[in-house]
Amino acid sequence: MKYIGNKFRLLPFIDKAITQGKLPTKGTFCDIFSGTTNVAQFYKKKGYKLITCDIMYYSYVFQHAYIKNNSYPSFSTLLQREENIIKARKQIQSSTLFNDDANKDNLKAVLHYLNNLPGEESFIYLNYAPGGSRHSEYQRQYFRDENAKRVDAIRNRIQLWKDNNWLTENEFFVLLAPLIDAADFVANISGTYGAFLKIWRSMALKHLTLLTPKLTESDLKHEIYLGDANKLIRNIKCDILYLDPPYNSRQYAPNFHILETIARWDNPKIYGKTGLRPYDGQKSDYNVKGKCEKKFADLVKNADCKYILLSYNNEGIIKDKTIKDVLSEKGDLKIFTQPYRRFRTDSESENRHYKVANDIVTENLYLVKVKN
Ligand SMILES: C[S@@+](CC[C@H](N)C(=O)[O-])C[C@H]1O[C@@H](n2cnc3c(N)ncnc32)[C@H](O)[C@@H]1O
Repeated sequence: MKYIGNKFRLLPFIDKAITQGKLPTKGTFCDIFSGTTNVAQFYKKKGYKLITCDIMYYSYVFQHAYIKNNSYPSFSTLLQREENIIKARKQIQSSTLFNDDANKDNLKAVLHYLNNLPGEESFIYLNYAPGGSRHSEYQRQYFRDENAKRVDAIRNRIQLWKDNNWLTENEFFVLLAPLIDAADFVANISGTYGAFLKIWRSMALKHLTLLTPKLTESDLKHEIYLGDANKLIRNIKCDILYLDPPYNSRQYAPNFHILETIARWDNPKIYGKTGLRPYDGQKSDYNVKGKCEKKFADLVKNADCKYILLSYNNEGIIKDKTIKDVLSEKGDLKIFTQPYRRFRTDSESENRHYKVANDIVTENLYLVKVKN
């Protein structure tokens, strides 16, 4: 997923710092700005107990599906109720699609069923596809008509099953997470939902398809939260606190508003050229110059942990000196650096003025061994 600050490609760098710093290889790992949950998933696989948090609900969906949920759920009630899924499962049982354990095959059958639903003209089609929005004040083309109808059909069906109590909580989130990923994959954007492209990009022409997610088995009870990291920090304790706060002034809520709507499915009163949903309660001080430094200092001050590991790049809005001063208060500080390609939407012009002249920024990892 193209996400501002996604650390997927930086996982080897983060893990090297953890190894070189001789951080505990077991215990509680807290990823308190978890976004896509890529970092949390990586450390869940390594056997840590995870605590995750984010202010965005789509992130909470990922947290539930990939962190809290510890196995492939059985979908037993749904399979009893939806005869067509059973039929589909039987019909294609002998095909190569089905060769995993029973629960994983059940999930594949449910996804296969959802992938083959006829499209519906609902919220995404009516507001974010050219066909549906053609008579409105703003014609938008975030999705091809067919894909928008597919998102609507799948999301409506998942909701119907949930409202009928045919899905457990885990099952609901395990279906919703692949839908958010699949919609994002075919969105006609250059990186964020702050704007749609005027010309269809090649990915947007692809057929929206739910893929079977890779779920990590675990015996541990992982904790997930939706809300402000600074509130949560006062109530948790962990061995490793990984901090990956926003580093520029682009708020996540307006930049990923359509994913939030697909996740919440709450029929928001949208407005403007891009069809934004109201996001007053989801504005982050970490994205605001003049507020982020105080917010960061408060977070660090209240952290009850053995190690703090902060990801931040050299173009971030919190000054490097402030970061060093705040973290040094907690204990011994060590810094790891790596050159990294900046996050850019495709449409950002070559001429845009950056603090760093070329396309490479320095990604910093600040490691603190907290003094007792
Ligand atoms: C740099 S991204 C994290 C990316 C993540 N590490 C990944 O690999 O996907 C920062 C995240 O912080 C979240 N965020 C912003 N302000 C927050 C706050 N006050 N409390 C919790 N999360 C917040 C954003 O929604 C965003 O997902």
